[in-house]
Amino acid sequence: MKAAVWHGPRDVRVDEVEDPKIEEATDAVIRITSSAICGSDLHLYEILSPFMTEGDILGHEPMGIVEEVGPEVTHIAPGDRVVIPFNISCGHCWMCDRQLFAQCETTQNHEEEKGASLLGYTKLYGQVPGGQAEFLRVPQAHFGPIKVPEGPPDDRFLYLSDVLPTSWQAVDYAAIPEGGSVAVFGLGPIGQMTARIAAYKGARVIAVDIVPERLELAQKHGIETLNLEEHDDISDTIREMTEGRGTDGAIDAVGMEAHGAPVGEFAQKAAGLLPDAVAEKLIEKAGVDRMSALYQCFDTVRRGGTVSISGVYGGVVDPIPMFQLFDKGVQLRMGQAHVKKWIDEIMPLVNDEADPLGTEDLASHKIGIEEVPDAYEKFQKKEDGAIKFVIQPNGA
Ligand SMILES: NC(=O)c1ccc[n+]([C@@H]2O[C@H](COP(=O)([O-])OP(=O)(O)OC[C@H]3O[C@@H](n4cnc5c(N)ncnc54)[C@H](O)[C@@H]3O)[C@@H](O)[C@H]2O)c1
Ligand SMILES: [Zn+2]
Ligand SMILES: [Zn+2]
Repeated sequence: MKAAVWHGPRDVRVDEVEDPKIEEATDAVIRITSSAICGSDLHLYEILSPFMTEGDILGHEPMGIVEEVGPEVTHIAPGDRVVIPFNISCGHCWMCDRQLFAQCETTQNHEEEKGASLLGYTKLYGQVPGGQAEFLRVPQAHFGPIKVPEGPPDDRFLYLSDVLPTSWQAVDYAAIPEGGSVAVFGLGPIGQMTARIAAYKGARVIAVDIVPERLELAQKHGIETLNLEEHDDISDTIREMTEGRGTDGAIDAVGMEAHGAPVGEFAQKAAGLLPDAVAEKLIEKAGVDRMSALYQCFDTVRRGGTVSISGVYGGVVDPIPMFQLFDKGVQLRMGQAHVKKWIDEIMPLVNDEADPLGTEDLASHKIGIEEVPDAYEKFQKKEDGAIKFVIQPNGA
């Protein structure tokens, strides 16, 4: 089959690789109909290169049709239409019993001291071949796959794999009081859906980015937006809009590659130039993150409010303004999304014919598998109006 394969920093190619097959009784194999590229893949594209291995198949936002299942997989059958969560969880361990699916103890990576395995996400997270391919082997398929109805287009359901549960969790973790306000930093796919979900739940949403078409897309959904570059101090601006206090919640939907943070940029470049073993140490033991979006959250949230972090960070000694956080009495919540925890709440919305979250306008590009290398480049540079690339590896 054809798959999107990582060969080196900013070097993704389409290779002919072996078809996946059932290896364990709890596996399934699916034929991919849609598979999205995520902001998290961009970290792998360059900054997290030291944790990648040439030959890794990328992709953790897939859906498709079940081809084959192992003997222990009973809730789905060949021919079913399914979405695959990006975290691989067993559904029955201590963590899964508490719906902390991103920390599943069956698939945790003890050697690396990391949480549950993730599809297509480096040797830190199990080095499981990903879903930007024609076919995918799904481990723990007795639990993970989400069955969805026939009829509506893939776009309606595809984002159940990551974007929607991640955004739902970000809003939940921001603990916005009834009729309260939230600032959303970043209007990539995660920020877009986070803003829409918070608004749907009745919050006043103020969203910040620097990319005009991303700001415009949010405006189309009735979100108040601010262009970071048009304000000397974005937090002051937001305080002025909220009776001088700041928002009840602030959400970081940007992560470690934020714009406007030269120190982290230097560390990331340095990490990229070092041999892998040294660079791995640098990333895991030093501050390599560009923290500006997180600092904006700390500054913008009102006293006693909550900061919710869905953007991915990876450094260890990143400077955290403890004085500010302590003095303001800020709550902090973060982490990978526990995908299946949120599906029952989101499902009625994606099944609603009115499409209240506007899932069908998020994809800016639909592409074949051969166009993947070009898509990564455009997505990284935010060129050509790129917001979300959806790969249709077996044709539209
Ligand atoms: N927690 C999870 O489970 C989870 C799941 C999916 C994605 N993520 C992470 O969420 C983040 C966003 O993902 P995405 O797909 O939307 O990525 P993306 O790269 O498309 O979007 C990031 C956006 O942030 C904007 N931005 C950069 N610096 C900014 C700043 N200082 N202030 C405001 N906006 C700024 C960029 O212009 C861009 O539009 C990434 O870090 C990704 O890894 C986390
Ligand atoms: Zn993702
Ligand atoms: Zn588990």
